[in-house]
Amino acid sequence: MRIAAIGSGSVGTGLAKAWSALGHTVVIGSRSPESERVAALVSGIGNGVTAAGLASSVADADVIVLAVPWGAAEASITAIGDLSNRVIIDATNPFARGLKLDIGHTTSGGEQVAEWAAGARVVKALNIVDARLLDGRKLDGRQISIPICGDDVEAKKIATELIAELGFDVVDSGVLENSRLLEPLALLMIRLSMKKSLGAEIGFRVSRD
Ligand SMILES: NC(=O)c1ccc[n+]([C@@H]2O[C@H](COP(=O)([O-])OP(=O)(O)OC[C@H]3O[C@@H](n4cnc5c(N)ncnc54)[C@H](OP(=O)(O)O)[C@@H]3O)[C@@H](O)[C@H]2O)c1
Repeated sequence: MRIAAIGSGSVGTGLAKAWSALGHTVVIGSRSPESERVAALVSGIGNGVTAAGLASSVADADVIVLAVPWGAAEASITAIGDLSNRVIIDATNPFARGLKLDIGHTTSGGEQVAEWAAGARVVKALNIVDARLLDGRKLDGRQISIPICGDDVEAKKIATELIAELGFDVVDSGVLENSRLLEPLALLMIRLSMKKSLGAEIGFRVSRD
């Protein structure tokens, strides 16, 4: 698959590294694709990963992953341009300063992204897993679960396959509106990691027979 990872931070580069190692073609969409920092990141990853400006990075992409801070999500989507019918995996979390949710209960970041990216097929996913675990490693001998939600069946299928390839246990969590539940869950994971000092080596798991 051709994947555009929007954002050259922990999530964007973590996914670029993991998916490119599996043979996918990954472009990192960046505000400064020619900067020394991004050039060093890209050459450090290897595997044919390249960097491009936001709009060009998505030109040939089958899947676009949004991996920017919440405060930059709308501007990034606007800079990309028309996203109708495109598959977007929204990995963002609508966090405000002080480890709080910026929005929630009656809407969610996932729904807001779908509104900004009019006509796109948005799947909320990968928002509750620490970027340091994107190599899909197991914890306690078991896969980490990645709940995903979205309204487009085909987009969810594509996201499921890509995320499962990373080594995760994908859990279909229904419609995009359920981002309202997945985003607070991300906050809980971060608070456990940071405030309770459990560190990066924690993951969410749905145990079932
Ligand atoms: N870190 C995690 O463990 C984790 C896990 C799951 C989900 N998330 C979510 O995923 C998203 C990305 O997280 P991250 O940890 O990868 O973030 P990050 O390390 O801070 O990187 C975000 C990237 O977004 C781009 N960006 C675009 N506009 C920006 C702006 N105004 N300010 C700063 N960066 C901007 C930057 O790339 P360019 O400079 O190249 O444009 C930057 O490198 C967030 O919404 C976060 O809540 C994070």
